[in-house]
Amino acid sequence: MPGDSNKIRACVFDVYGTLLDFNSAIKKLRDKIGPQSEQLSALWRSKQLEYSWLRTLMGKHTDFDQITADALDFSLSTLSIKDKDLRNDLMGLFHKLEPFPEVSKILKELKSNELSIVILSNGTSHTLTASLQQAKINFYFDEIYSIETVGKFKPHPDVYRIPCDGLGLEPKNIAFISANSWDIAGAASFGLKTIWVNRSGSKNEVLTFDPNFEILDLTMLPELLSAGDFR
Ligand code: 2OP
Repeated sequence: MPGDSNKIRACVFDVYGTLLDFNSAIKKLRDKIGPQSEQLSALWRSKQLEYSWLRTLMGKHTDFDQITADALDFSLSTLSIKDKDLRNDLMGLFHKLEPFPEVSKILKELKSNELSIVILSNGTSHTLTASLQQAKINFYFDEIYSIETVGKFKPHPDVYRIPCDGLGLEPKNIAFISANSWDIAGAASFGLKTIWVNRSGSKNEVLTFDPNFEILDLTMLPELLSAGDFR
C-alpha cells in the first residue's frame, strides 16, 4: 500500500538511562559512599560516555565493560575514594541495574502488536543479555544489537545502520527510543525516526537533529506508536 510506506515497523531501544537506571548502582550503596554519592554517579556516567566518544575518535576501541571500569577508576580517584571493595561492588551492580518502574508493563503492551522490538546499545552482547535477564525484561526483545559488531560507539552512523541491516528495514520505518538526547541526535542525523524519553527534564540539544517526539517516560509510547505520524 503506497500510504503505508512510512509506517513504523520496529522499535529500537537504547538501554542505559532509557530502560535500565544507571544511577541505581550507586543508590544501592549510598549509605556506604555518603554525601559524594550523587557526584560519583554523575561523574562515572559522564566519563563513561566521554571515553566511548574519545576512543571512537581515536580509532582505539575497547569494550563498554572496560570503558565503564576505566571511568569508575577515574571518578573514584577524582573524589579520593580509595575503597577497593566499593569499586568491585559498583562494577558488580553495573551488571544488575534496575529497570525504570514502567518499563516492563510498556514492553508487554508493545509486544502484543506487530512491531519488532529490539535493543541497540553500546553494551557488550554478554553484559546486555545478562543485565536484561536480571531485570526480567529480556524476553520482550526479538534481537539484542550491540555496537561491538561495528567496533565504534554511538553516535557513529555505522551504529544506527545495524538495526536497518539486521531487520531489513529502511531508517524511516524504525522508531529509535532513547533518554540520551545526544543519542537521539545521532539517530536522527542518520535518518531514523526518534522519540526522546526526557526523564530528567533536560533542555533539547542544539545539534540540528531534533526528535520527532518527546515524552517524559515510556507510558505514552504505545499510544504514540499507534496514532503517531512520523513524517
Ligand atoms: C546505550 O547505548 C548510550 O548508554 C547508552 O545503552
